[in-house]
Amino acid sequence: MTAPIFRTRITELFGIRHPILMGGMQHYGQSALVAAVVNAGAMGYVTPRSFDSLDEYRRDLRKCRELTGGRAFGVNLTISARPGFNRDAPAWIDIALEEGVRHFESAGTSPEPFVERIHAGGGLLMHKCPSVRHALTAERIGVDAVALVGLEEGGHPGANQLPTFVNGAVALQKIRIPVVVGGGIGTGRQITAALAMGADAVVMGSRFMVATEAPVHQALKDHIVGLDEHCSTTVLSSLNNTWRVMVNDTAREVQRIEAGGARRHEDFGDLILSARTRERVYRDGKVEEGMVSLGPAGGFADAVESAGVIVDRLMRDAAQAASAFTRGFTVTTQPVATADI
Ligand SMILES: Cc1cc2nc3c(=O)[nH]c(=O)nc-3n(C[C@H](O)[C@H](O)[C@H](O)COP(=O)(O)O)c2cc1C
Repeated sequence: MTAPIFRTRITELFGIRHPILMGGMQHYGQSALVAAVVNAGAMGYVTPRSFDSLDEYRRDLRKCRELTGGRAFGVNLTISARPGFNRDAPAWIDIALEEGVRHFESAGTSPEPFVERIHAGGGLLMHKCPSVRHALTAERIGVDAVALVGLEEGGHPGANQLPTFVNGAVALQKIRIPVVVGGGIGTGRQITAALAMGADAVVMGSRFMVATEAPVHQALKDHIVGLDEHCSTTVLSSLNNTWRVMVNDTAREVQRIEAGGARRHEDFGDLILSARTRERVYRDGKVEEGMVSLGPAGGFADAVESAGVIVDRLMRDAAQAASAFTRGFTVTTQPVATADI
């Protein structure tokens, strides 16, 4: 495990070695991957929507606790704007607190209904959002940190048209609590750049999709390794539900239906359903047959390797960039490769 290099308000508050957070990722956010990231010195979030039942979710938290041997890990609370989709959210929090989890990442809509419940249980809440306005509201209602994501984010970056480094820089001028930035980050030198800007940590997702421990078919990992920074596109903006996904046949078909005037989720049949992605892509490895959240940072994924090696490479690359920078040089070396680890 790489020695700590940077100390920030987030590494202190979360008790982590490196200022890297692997954000919640539906299906990916299960104990195997989360524990691997946490054991490498970063923070990861188990994602309750990855499980079919609350019992399954609780069992996975217990497994994660075992695998991490006392290191802190978190739970993601993705709150949908669609009514009826959040029935289990209070139970996600209560179960997590009962199982000893103290770190929460909320996303989607306002976390206001949950702040008190989390704090009463001794937890910390970071709210992730794509707009500074929402981050200011989150700060006002008492969250402990905010994460600002730019339009590069894999998944749901919202209607925001600002890239990560603009969004983050504006947030850092206005927000007093710790600020995390994310979206499009896949190298260590980008992490150093974010920290130089004043961020307290980065939140990443796409770069970890090829980790050995990710609970998806090998064919998808190999496919992503073969992609470059043009690997993603957006869909469903006209339904006010912008989704950044991997370019594939399904995404192209969804774009075709949307361009034809479809404006209701039902108009896309099962093409946009997570159950389809889970079965056809994640389980069976048919990479063209479902929608896969992914951002351009997936283009930096150059090998299927353990999350621990990914974190080590990121941190060595970040250290190299920081050291060159503080000596007054720009970075002239190649990014850290697996062979250097
Ligand atoms: C496959 C995948 C699934 C995701 N699922 C969720 C989710 O369920 N909830 C959430 O808050 N964010 C989700 N995200 C967003 C990540 O937590 C993180 O904010 C994002 O990946 C950062 O941008 P990057 O992909 O450019 O690194 C997902 C991202 C990916 C790539």
